[in-house]
Amino acid sequence: MNILILGAGGREHAFAHKILESKHCQKLYVAPGNAGTAQIAENIDLKVTDFEAIKAFVLKENINMVVVGPEDPLVLGIYDFFTEDPQLKDVALIGPSERGALLEGSKERAKEFMYLHNIPTAAYECFTAKSLNAGKAFLESLKPPYVLKADGLAGGKGVLIIDDLTEAQEELGHMLLDKKFGDAGRKVVIEEFLDGIELSVFVLTDGKNYKILPTAKDYKRIGEGNTGLNTGGMGAISPVPFADKELMDKIEERIVKPTIKGLQKEEIDYKGFVFIGIIKVGNEPYVIEYNVRMGDPETEVVLPRIKSDFVELLVKVSQQKLNKATLEIDDQSAVTVMLTSGGYPEDYEKGKEITGIDAVDGSIIFHAGTAEKDGKIITNGGRVIAVTSMGKDYKEALKKSYQNIEKLHFDKMYYRKDLGFDLS
Ligand code: AMP
Ligand code: GLY
Repeated sequence: MNILILGAGGREHAFAHKILESKHCQKLYVAPGNAGTAQIAENIDLKVTDFEAIKAFVLKENINMVVVGPEDPLVLGIYDFFTEDPQLKDVALIGPSERGALLEGSKERAKEFMYLHNIPTAAYECFTAKSLNAGKAFLESLKPPYVLKADGLAGGKGVLIIDDLTEAQEELGHMLLDKKFGDAGRKVVIEEFLDGIELSVFVLTDGKNYKILPTAKDYKRIGEGNTGLNTGGMGAISPVPFADKELMDKIEERIVKPTIKGLQKEEIDYKGFVFIGIIKVGNEPYVIEYNVRMGDPETEVVLPRIKSDFVELLVKVSQQKLNKATLEIDDQSAVTVMLTSGGYPEDYEKGKEITGIDAVDGSIIFHAGTAEKDGKIITNGGRVIAVTSMGKDYKEALKKSYQNIEKLHFDKMYYRKDLGFDLS
């Protein structure tokens, strides 16, 4: 098969790496890709939201399958664009329909879906500029801290957690009246704060059948001890040590099954990944969010643990025969440590030469924000490289990643040295 991956990060490099292990992959393209994907596949200079340009490329190169990495093209309806086009309808597009993607594209819709299908989540209400005063009153009825979420896509930055009531009320005004998060904040979901420990559960589904992929935990804050600003993710660990059978059974019965049944009941086409953000409160799991794609950097630890032919799994998804596929998981733990540009997630410089990649031994290097210039690999983003390792447990795996990181260098390179600190 000829396969096209859309996206440019560590997630897409990890997809490319796994897809190339399959006997079914003949030619692999990544659009737009990075310096890492360029080494193992062919990068194509296409915008992931330019559907007409993607169509022209798919037809020209006889692409059989398109794997969508990021959420933007999904929320904009790339699945429907493919299925409604007579020339493209036989191309397998891995990702949900526009209606499915709304589970990530609108927090209000996600909450409605959870309530409708009895999926445990925090109590909430949704407000607009017109109902600002009601929103302020609702905040008064809650206990701190207060959780405010911009309804639309805000690049992972649209959630505020605030201790002080007056400040929360002011921020609600900034979101609804001053467009603090642009159009994404035209509606704001206010919800009950859940106090617990987070994990992510990934589900591959064809809309009818599902397979639960390895769990992962990511480290979102820039600073050690989970302090400082939120980032796209500074590293991840899989499996999550506290996700024992008892918790996973509850997650499957109370969350995964009702989610897939809900999609079916609402006749939503969904052939892709569901990334369920969960908080474990006491011993009970609650959903905090749905994403309609794989996570980054979670993909860099989830995919290396999948032993089955990944393309075969995706083909079965596109045929709605996922029940006929087998999913074999490696018992080892996987970890990834993200190397970032100094200053990230605020201002940072690009174009720094990265050295030492060839000296890495026993870890996988997934490129995130990298580019090639004059034969050198240079930094091209805030998150630069994910260093993934496997081991008998996460501690052994982390040791390998940290040892290999010693060999890597670029100006103002930063990474967290405390991954897993909250697990033992
Ligand atoms: P989200 O974009 O919905 O995943 O929210 C971003 C982060 O905010 C989550 O990873 C949680 O750490 C936190 N968060 C979101 N909702 C809640 C909640 N109801 N209670 C506590 N923390 C939350
Ligand atoms: N690492 C979080 C995400 O991909 O949304």
